[in-house]
Amino acid sequence: MIDQFLKWLASTALATNIRESLLLFPLLESAHVFSLALVVGTILVVDLRLLGLASAQRPFERVASDTFKWTWGAFALTAATGLLMFTTNAPVYYHNFYFRAKMMLLLAAGVNMLIFELSRRSVERIGKAVAIASLTLWLAVIFMGRMIGFTTTRAAEVKPPPTQNFDDFLK
Ligand code: HEM
Repeated sequence: MIDQFLKWLASTALATNIRESLLLFPLLESAHVFSLALVVGTILVVDLRLLGLASAQRPFERVASDTFKWTWGAFALTAATGLLMFTTNAPVYYHNFYFRAKMMLLLAAGVNMLIFELSRRSVERIGKAVAIASLTLWLAVIFMGRMIGFTTTRAAEVKPPPTQNFDDFLK
């Protein structure tokens, strides 16, 4: 059942256009890397504050409110570009160990943030533990994300049209 759905997803016009385009997938992956850097970078700012290693003079609530709006915006872009890449080779990604591990770790990172949100009043007490868990989980997400590319074969190899030579771009 799920494999049929994934095969259908990969056969859609959207997935096929991305897969057969020379530049669309690299552009999506670049946007994915840019937005995930913003997600992890803004979370790092808050975690370093919780650990008392940066912005220690600034009230925590102020650091969090200035930063989290960027985190959520960047997360939306990361998820959108990730999903579009996923459609191009859905059956392969879905069965890939590193893709699954990354989704599990993303869930755990989300639960960690939820625990923190629900116990925001005791930030001094649990802040350090949440920050260390957060940094560990996000580093693991990045590692698993990187391993996806190494352990999956592209759905279709896209050759540049014979008239186009990449060296021309460098001239
Ligand atoms: C904030 C959350 C996320 C982070 C930190 C993240 C991180 C990464 C990283 C570091 C890579 C490797 C990029 C590269 O090597 O060029 C990657 C690739 C990938 N990500 Fe994400 N990702 C996130 C969310 C998602 C989501 C929600 C999906 C889709 C459901 C997704 C799907 C993918 C796919 C399919 C690839 C592999 C692309 C390839 O074949 O090279 N990601 N991700």
